[in-house]
Amino acid sequence: MLLNKSDLPLVAMDFMNEVHYEDVDIINTLFELVLTYEQEPTEENYLAINEQYETWYAHTVDHFQGEEIKMQEMNFPPYPMHKGEHDKGLHRMNEVYQEWKKSKNILGLKIYLIEELSPWLVHHIQTMDTITASFFNTGAMSCGTH
Ligand SMILES: [Fe+2]
Ligand SMILES: [Fe+2]
Repeated sequence: MLLNKSDLPLVAMDFMNEVHYEDVDIINTLFELVLTYEQEPTEENYLAINEQYETWYAHTVDHFQGEEIKMQEMNFPPYPMHKGEHDKGLHRMNEVYQEWKKSKNILGLKIYLIEELSPWLVHHIQTMDTITASFFNTGAMSCGTH
């Protein structure tokens, strides 16, 4: 297992926590498939990774859009900053995927998931999503000094 649900900070909006838990399940399944391919680099195992990666990508598009729609509805002031992180994250997911499909370099994919994606996701939830959820909840920016 790559990520534990208990590694994820809970934010003040249940709909966001639920999506984050789904994300963890999808990523853990993907990681298992990566480990399987590492042991047995068959065409079948290669295709299984690709199918799961595409499921994950589609889920992430929805995950990010769900937050973005609500930020826009509520006129969240730092919307462009949060949206910018989403766009960068998606761009990187796609870049890694294209690279993997071309090279079949399983180590590159494994290192991305362990060293880049996991810390990115936890950090994103700890910062952007936490501030955003608390704004959704109270209608105000929490800056800690008031
Ligand atoms: Fe999120
Ligand atoms: Fe987010």
